[in-house]
Amino acid sequence: MSDIPNKMVVDVRGVEKHFGEGANRIHVLKQVNLQAYAGEILMLVGPSGCGKTTLLSAIAGTLRVENGSIEVFNQQLHRMSGGALTKFRAKNIGFIFQQFNLIPTLSVAENVGIPLLIQGVGNREAMKRSRAVLDAVGLGKRWNERPNKLSGGQQQRVAIARALVHEPPLVICDEPTAALDSQNGEIVLELFRNVARSANRAVIIVTHDNRIFSYADRIARMDDGEIVEEKKQTHDHPPQFLHEHAL
Ligand SMILES: Nc1ncnc2c1ncn2[C@@H]1O[C@H](COP(=O)(O)OP(=O)(O)OP(=O)(O)O)[C@@H](O)[C@H]1O
Ligand SMILES: [Mg+2]
Repeated sequence: MSDIPNKMVVDVRGVEKHFGEGANRIHVLKQVNLQAYAGEILMLVGPSGCGKTTLLSAIAGTLRVENGSIEVFNQQLHRMSGGALTKFRAKNIGFIFQQFNLIPTLSVAENVGIPLLIQGVGNREAMKRSRAVLDAVGLGKRWNERPNKLSGGQQQRVAIARALVHEPPLVICDEPTAALDSQNGEIVLELFRNVARSANRAVIIVTHDNRIFSYADRIARMDDGEIVEEKKQTHDHPPQFLHEHAL
């Protein structure tokens, strides 16, 4: 590793968000600052309800915040119009939602191809690339099925394939391994590592899954709407997926 700091790709400064009205109003993001750098896997951890998904949604541009600024690849999301933001997001961000958000009426391969079709890639090419990524997550043979025929872990891998298919420079994942066994979890983490090996790309992962922590280059801990700790990890040993004990 060189001493030259990598390029900052996400810069969150002083971000505030409330939900609800009156007595039900809750303060979900409290002056949040968080940066992500090219070439890294950043993990965001913290108790349920502390604001992790809210923060990810703000970084992904799917949720507007009240104060502060969010820059992604030097673009100020809060200054973009809805249309420009949608375009920017389609090209630059792959988002794996906590709920997989697969479209039930489309086949698995069609679901994965959506980001390519949005970008104007032709249907044939989109299906070819979609099936290649499905192969990489071990679902090549299931390309023509409807998502509800698949198990939870398989659906999760379809959602992961959809977030990677257009090779976005920023991959944002909300609990990407929650439904995966260790074999598939390892495959997915290696895919994320490959993304983060590239000099211009980064991966941000929200997770409770202690099997994957060693893959993080940095871990940010959130509590009650605030980032309370940031820790860099050295990789003296290659990261390793912690296998659960056989039951
Ligand atoms: N659209 C919404 N409307 C109202 N309240 C919301 C909304 N989204 C989230 N909240 C509230 O904001 C708080 C933070 O939610 P968030 O989903 O960010 O938590 P989280 O850290 O991702 O939790 P988990 O680990 O359970 O996924 C919670 O109290 C939640 O109820
Ligand atoms: Mg969440």
